[in-house]
Amino acid sequence: MTSSLSRISSVSVRALLGGISGALTAFDRNPVAYTRVIADAHGSPYIARTYLPRIPRPVAMTPLIHAIHRPDRIRWCHNHPWRRSRFVVVSGGYSETRLLPDRSRVTRRLSVGDVNSFGRDDFHSIDAVDPHTWTVGLVADECQEWGFMVDDVEFVPSDRYFREERETAARELLREAEWIRLLAWIDASARRE
Ligand SMILES: [Fe+2]
Repeated sequence: MTSSLSRISSVSVRALLGGISGALTAFDRNPVAYTRVIADAHGSPYIARTYLPRIPRPVAMTPLIHAIHRPDRIRWCHNHPWRRSRFVVVSGGYSETRLLPDRSRVTRRLSVGDVNSFGRDDFHSIDAVDPHTWTVGLVADECQEWGFMVDDVEFVPSDRYFREERETAARELLREAEWIRLLAWIDASARRE
């Protein structure tokens, strides 16, 4: 596991904020930058990710800006699709849980200036988010499907995990509908008596 927590100075954070502001101002003139809103299985958005143009050298990396709206609200930790990634908190802050290789969990808090690093085998979840939380990241080498470590032992790819979540929700709705039909039948029977 390559996860680690380091810290950058407030001067660097200000420089990053200046860089973000410049990148966002130039956004409408930049045909290769775009924003994707990431939502859970029920369509509830929790993060907006802006991809900026790739930096080709010395190692190809893509800069990302994350606006984190709320915690993940999924009990299992997830990994990321990249071989390595690094995110600096530039506004707000959040708490995360890390799943360690021995399956134990640690929780930690990240504030402005903290740098969160991930390798391809690192799993985490975001548990609490301050208002106006923004991070700036660099990601390299999208090499794998991302997903959740269910029960802390079984890797389930995100598309399968979300599909099964939706199917469970649909079954529950159906069960509710059956109850409603039953109640309506009881009500109608009582009226007839
Ligand atoms: Fe994550």
